Amino acid sequence: MKNSVLVFDDVCETALIKRAYDQIVKRGGASYKFTTLSELWSDEDQTLQAVKKVVHDVWYNKLYKHRPENIFGYEIWHNVMYEGGNLDLHTDCDESSEKMVCPSMSCVIYCGPDDRIGGGQLLIDTTGQNDFEVINYRYNRVVLFDSSMPHQVNTVSYLPNSDQPRVAISCPAWDHEIKPKVERY
Ligand SMILES: [Fe+2]
Repeated sequence: MKNSVLVFDDVCETALIKRAYDQIVKRGGASYKFTTLSELWSDEDQTLQAVKKVVHDVWYNKLYKHRPENIFGYEIWHNVMYEGGNLDLHTDCDESSEKMVCPSMSCVIYCGPDDRIGGGQLLIDTTGQNDFEVINYRYNRVVLFDSSMPHQVNTVSYLPNSDQPRVAISCPAWDHEIKPKVERY
């Protein structure tokens, strides 16, 4: 997996994606929570419950052959972007650690809108020397990549419907528990 990016299309059950998309848009913003494997099956929070179902479908029903071994849990995020939204260059890591400790594998799932949008591409620096692989946003696309690679999201320049934002779920897999400074769900 070192320095590699894998892209899969039409991965998740569309009913699960739609439910997660609607819940996330209603909730808005960005939220995250560390979820152990045993907590992945359900949640009291409706939004997180819908998001977990998508994460479970992707990692356990569809892309299980690519799942790293020895998973302890997932750092589950949702992210909502309207026109003008973007994400700065960063590396997925344990933010509570002073050392750079990365997940076993990073994973992003695009949940909507189902039309083409302008901008919002994922840029992954595969060599650490500004050698960016460009991955376009596409509905129901899943991107798996080596977590040590810095990445960013270009500004969303156009949405076909202004009330249907670009929504992504990020769910890096960890082989040990991490404790994010703030959990919001
Ligand atoms: Fe990231």
